[in-house]
Amino acid sequence: MAEPLRIALAGLGTVGSGVIRLIETNSELIARRARRPIRITAVSARDRSKDRGVDLSSYVWDDDPTKLGQREDVDVVVELVGGSDGPALTLARNTIAAGKSLVTANKAMIAHHGLELAAAAEDADVALKFEAAVAGGIPVIKGLSEGAAANQIDRVYGILNGTCNYILSQMEDTGAAFGDVLAEAQRLGYAEADPTFDVEGIDAAHKLSILASIAFGTQLRFDAVETSGISRIMSVDIEQARALGYVIRLIGLAEAGSRVGVPGLFQRVRPHLVPVDHPLAHVDGATNAVVAEGNFMGRLLFQGPGAGDGPTASAVVADLIDIARGEWGVGFSMPAAELREMAPADSGMRRGRAYIRFIVPDRPGVLADITAAMRDASVSIESMIQKARDDQTGEVMLALVTHEGPESAVDEALRVLEGSDSLTAPPLVLTIIGT
Ligand code: NAP
Ligand code: HSE
Repeated sequence: MAEPLRIALAGLGTVGSGVIRLIETNSELIARRARRPIRITAVSARDRSKDRGVDLSSYVWDDDPTKLGQREDVDVVVELVGGSDGPALTLARNTIAAGKSLVTANKAMIAHHGLELAAAAEDADVALKFEAAVAGGIPVIKGLSEGAAANQIDRVYGILNGTCNYILSQMEDTGAAFGDVLAEAQRLGYAEADPTFDVEGIDAAHKLSILASIAFGTQLRFDAVETSGISRIMSVDIEQARALGYVIRLIGLAEAGSRVGVPGLFQRVRPHLVPVDHPLAHVDGATNAVVAEGNFMGRLLFQGPGAGDGPTASAVVADLIDIARGEWGVGFSMPAAELREMAPADSGMRRGRAYIRFIVPDRPGVLADITAAMRDASVSIESMIQKARDDQTGEVMLALVTHEGPESAVDEALRVLEGSDSLTAPPLVLTIIGT
């Protein structure tokens, strides 16, 4: 058998220790598939004394993760520290500059610096691989950049954050409170070091921008993703959604503007109402699902565990196996210099139905104010529900579902209502997913 591929691991948390367990447990199988052994030589993290549930005694401990790529006993560095900048980025740049390959699960770093790193890796003729950065254990980057490579893709969307999906489906199934379920997601190793990235949709936006670049062959534009998260979803929204025949899911969507006759690329992360008979409505827990639509392949659905140590380690080690075999291609499905620039499309031109939830004072005229704003913006109302007054706050929850129309009309109605004393909190808009 050929010489081992010698790797260094930076970061020994949920994913890093998962990678060690996987490489040790499946070492023989991995060596047969990779045609050479994959051997960990050096490791690094912040706290050397921490018990990580894995035996580190046969690896060299290096206090400085940023220099791992310069070590002579290392061929590939695996970056599992996290963060878009800081030590992770220094390590990535140093590793490629040292002529070594880099594997990372760090979607924040790839979303912000992926093009720079991909171009540097191409120049240095080394691999930059990040399968674990999107949708955990699902091989969706490989699927899109290789399996779907012959297609013009005009829409890619799905559930891209395991923590949010876990929170929403647990709240739905058990009625548990948001904060309790988030704490459980953290305990299970699903959440980011700063869970705001999960619940505010930023993590899903990182992943969406990476998928969009690969699917559309465009330059990665994280700044162009319109992002909102799930922190404003209340139990009452989940109840209302269920009563109307929907579940709530955080969906990332990238779509060619040409589908609605406008130039550019439309990218958004936002909670949606998903009809109970839609495949995404049955994606529960930390599961992720990605749908990609291409001009010859039709609609592909990728589904599987989107977070946690095992699935994420599986994606990391799959990248290492590709590198061990000498099969790695380019980071974003085509050379970085060939990725097209594509401006953001005007989202107001999209058409659809929406659920809008208002919290209002219990007094005459409130309903008239809201419906007048809808009328003036030409938003047609399909149905409306009003809940009984909350005796403690004196407020009332009012939810309406619109008929299909341009999103710009709903935006206009809400602009008119901004600052109105008929609302006691900003309204929540959930797009209803179409087919
Ligand atoms: P984690 O459990 O917080 O582990 C982070 C590791 O990095 C820890 O071992 C920590 O050291 C080390 N570290 C942090 N700052 C450091 C520094 N300044 N210098 C040296 N080491 C440092 O995170 P994780 O969940 O494994 O995630 C790692 C990466 O994978 C992130 O980019 C994340 O977005 C990505 N990812 C995670 C998942 C998931 O399900 N968790 C899935 C896909 C992708 P100590 O242990 O000594 O504190
Ligand atoms: N925090 C991320 C999630 C980890 O919950 O999806 C997987 O990328």
